[in-house]
Amino acid sequence: MDALSLLLICCKLLLIFSEFSFASDVLTSSQSLSDGNTLISKGGSFELGFFSPGSSENRYVGIWYKSIPVKTVVWVANRLKPINDSSGLLTINRTGNPVLTSLSMGIVWSASLSKEVQQTPVILQLLDSGNLILRGEQDGDSENYFWQSFDYPSDTLLPGMKLGWDLKTGLERRVTSWKSSNDPSPGDLIWKIERQGNPELVMWKGSTKFYRTGPWNGVTFSASSIKPNPIFNSSFVSNEDELYYTYILVDKAVFSRTLVNQTLSLRQRFVWSKATQSWELYISVPRDQCDTYNLCGDYGICSISKSPVCQCLKGFKPKSEVYVERSQGCVRTKPLNYSRRDGFVKFNDLKLPDSTSSWVSKSINLNECREKCSDNSSCMAYTNSDIRGEGSGCAMWFGDLIDIRYFQDGGQDLYIRMSASELGAKGEPTTKIVVIVISSAALLAVVLIAGYLIRKRRRNIAEKTENGQIHNIDLELPLFELATIVSATNKFSINKKLGQGGFGPVYKGMLVDGQEIAVKRLSKISEQGLKELKNEVILFSKLQHRNLVKLLGCCIQGEEKLLIYEFMPNKSLDSFIFGLDQERCKILDWSKRFHIICGIARGVMYLHQDSRLRIIHRDLKASNVLLDQDMNPKISDFGLARAFAGDETEGNTNRVVGTYGYMAPEYASDGQFSVKSDVFSFGILLLEIISGKKNRGFYHSDNKLNLIGHAWKLWNEGMPSQLIDPCIQGSFNLAEVIRCIHIGLLCVQQHPEDRPSMPSVILMLGSEIVLPQPKQPGYLADRNSTRLDSSSSMPEPCSTNTITISELEGR
Ligand SMILES: *[C@@H]1O[C@H](CO)[C@@H](O)[C@H](O)[C@H]1NC(C)=O
Ligand SMILES: *[C@@H]1O[C@H](CO)[C@@H](O)[C@H](O)[C@H]1NC(C)=O
Ligand SMILES: *[C@@H]1O[C@H](CO)[C@@H](O)[C@H](O)[C@H]1NC(C)=O
Ligand SMILES: *[C@@H]1O[C@H](CO)[C@@H](O)[C@H](O)[C@H]1NC(C)=O
Ligand SMILES: *[C@@H]1O[C@H](CO)[C@@H](O)[C@H](O)[C@H]1NC(C)=O
Ligand SMILES: *[C@@H]1O[C@H](CO)[C@@H](O)[C@H](O)[C@H]1NC(C)=O
Repeated sequence: MDALSLLLICCKLLLIFSEFSFASDVLTSSQSLSDGNTLISKGGSFELGFFSPGSSENRYVGIWYKSIPVKTVVWVANRLKPINDSSGLLTINRTGNPVLTSLSMGIVWSASLSKEVQQTPVILQLLDSGNLILRGEQDGDSENYFWQSFDYPSDTLLPGMKLGWDLKTGLERRVTSWKSSNDPSPGDLIWKIERQGNPELVMWKGSTKFYRTGPWNGVTFSASSIKPNPIFNSSFVSNEDELYYTYILVDKAVFSRTLVNQTLSLRQRFVWSKATQSWELYISVPRDQCDTYNLCGDYGICSISKSPVCQCLKGFKPKSEVYVERSQGCVRTKPLNYSRRDGFVKFNDLKLPDSTSSWVSKSINLNECREKCSDNSSCMAYTNSDIRGEGSGCAMWFGDLIDIRYFQDGGQDLYIRMSASELGAKGEPTTKIVVIVISSAALLAVVLIAGYLIRKRRRNIAEKTENGQIHNIDLELPLFELATIVSATNKFSINKKLGQGGFGPVYKGMLVDGQEIAVKRLSKISEQGLKELKNEVILFSKLQHRNLVKLLGCCIQGEEKLLIYEFMPNKSLDSFIFGLDQERCKILDWSKRFHIICGIARGVMYLHQDSRLRIIHRDLKASNVLLDQDMNPKISDFGLARAFAGDETEGNTNRVVGTYGYMAPEYASDGQFSVKSDVFSFGILLLEIISGKKNRGFYHSDNKLNLIGHAWKLWNEGMPSQLIDPCIQGSFNLAEVIRCIHIGLLCVQQHPEDRPSMPSVILMLGSEIVLPQPKQPGYLADRNSTRLDSSSSMPEPCSTNTITISELEGR
């Protein structure tokens, strides 16, 4: 072997050694990282190396989670210039800059250092936070980096990253979407901090503002639904040197990241679920229509529970009489004087307006703030800049106010400048009080007189009805005369029939005074004595809750037993969610459905524990939930089961009333009922509202499962979102829907003792407490295809004599 060959071999060996081939978290200036090798952070959380995104063949250097089986890239170096072969090499060049080169393309990426590297040797190190840093080899743990990847975010904000500004160097850190999942080059969805009088987080789509969170209020952003939670802590720093938002994980064992997604036009936060081995969506924004930037124009207020969502703030009217476009906004009904003569009106629960022209001071209080605002003719509103405690600081807005929404849960107060005449005539305070006293006295008198008259009328009716049939008439009992109802319903005309309920047909009627009513004509199945029935009705007429249909009275005369309810113009929930009618199901977008779910839950809770009676409904289902003109849900037929089944002991019955598809297994098979069997039915209803499918009669081509079975399968496969009704696509916050599916599955668990009580359900719906994992639900398959109840010692539950199947109604 000659000397040259020996030299060549030595060189090759040297190359192999200097090339990086073992797991390490650092790259020194004498090493290089080639395609195929990686750096792994010390704790094993993150890995850096070459990758190709999605179906692309381009090579990029990026950082992804090492300990998570789903490859999730959180940072990309050469976003702008992909490498088209496997010749990429990451090195530190002689001046200390990390550079990425490829054979055919030369330098594709290099890091621009925040300060010049002195003579010390430098190293690149991947920290366990996912931060790639360049530091002097001897610098150890001091955070004196020459460069760090956290200063140049891609589409993901990791815990500990700062979104915002280093005001001394002018460095801005913003998050930019990938163009698509195959292309990490910067898309046009940007998430950043606006450096303005009162800074706030803003998402831009290209050059248009897209969504703003509202200014920081000391606790959170004005319109953020993120409350203190067990997963992460948010903070906002604004001082002379720095202006940024950041968050840290409370539990270091949890993985969470937030990113902007171009395809969906959303900013999403995910939390890694060990149970499902997938990223679960925790929250995403914009959440709904009202989050759309400036949807309602100047002085418009977006309110998601109103239709149309855009309204004018009180004291303002639409700019144009003709309804052209709502973004035209609103104008004052009374002009301002633009002097100290103007006053301020307090509005509650708002997302604070766009803060581009605003000003903030931490050191002055609300009164001084008002004075300052009063003095400046272009100041249109003010409020506390920090809501902690009693509130402190001052924020002021100049010019027309835009992008305000009503935000019941966590919105803020805002004092808006108004013409003095809008505030009402100025009088001496004493005269005001006198006026109030006099007017309230007058009102009280009117109410008393009206009450007397109504009662008198009822008493008359009651006395007339008393034909020796009903004794001991309670003067409070709202009794109607049969003739009144017969004429109100046009002799129970078929045209007036609204539907067929479990206990008989329901008719629409109108009383002489114009009040619309719904009349339930009870069929002859009641075995109960008139007196007992009457007593029950009296009790139920006293149940009052905004989520229960109001029972106005009854009429018991001869064979006829009628219950009279308030009329619900929007009929029942099933006609919205199960219809094939696309338009109808879209009326109930996610926020309305969520509102309905919460309303039903409150109604059931009232029956279970807040009313004097402790009522188990036993027939909760979509057709028993009626909707009023504002789509508020009201439960009907409550307590009827109790009124009808006189022959049962508490907790056990051999008369099973209810509807297949909603009945808890222990109830359908053993007649065992409890509040937990209502919880079961509620869970079914919840899953039906989310999926738009009936539990009973649900059909999926892949399997014989019913809706719960299907939901359970999807849950275990980590794909609960496939359950969601296509009708609500685009209107929902996935985290919220998935949480509801989770709650639904907890409610339908096989064993009653595992199911949550209604108060817990309400707590779960209304907060972000951690939910337990659901166990297997009862009835995985439709009873038509599988009999789950195989015990022969049980009374046969399905015999037609003992069961009321209320699903006969032909809606
Ligand atoms: C990669 O890109 C370079 C420069 O654009 C080009 O010369 C080369 O042919 C490309 N290689 C492949 C495999 O496409
Ligand atoms: C190292 O890379 C930086 C950035 O590309 C460049 O400015 C510098 O000149 C390079 N140094 C050498 C010695 O090539
Ligand atoms: C955006 O979200 C969609 C739908 O979840 C997903 O398929 C896509 O990969 C995401 N895009 C990026 C760049 O992550
Ligand atoms: C998160 O914030 C809460 C309340 O501000 C605080 O008590 C807690 O210590 C914080 N957690 C961490 C990990 O900083
Ligand atoms: C403001 O009020 C004063 C006193 O009533 C009046 O003279 C002045 O014209 C008003 N200015 C405007 C702009 O309305
Ligand atoms: C009102 O405040 C704005 C913003 O601070 C300022 O530019 C303007 O000069 C002020 N106007 C008056 C009359 O003080």
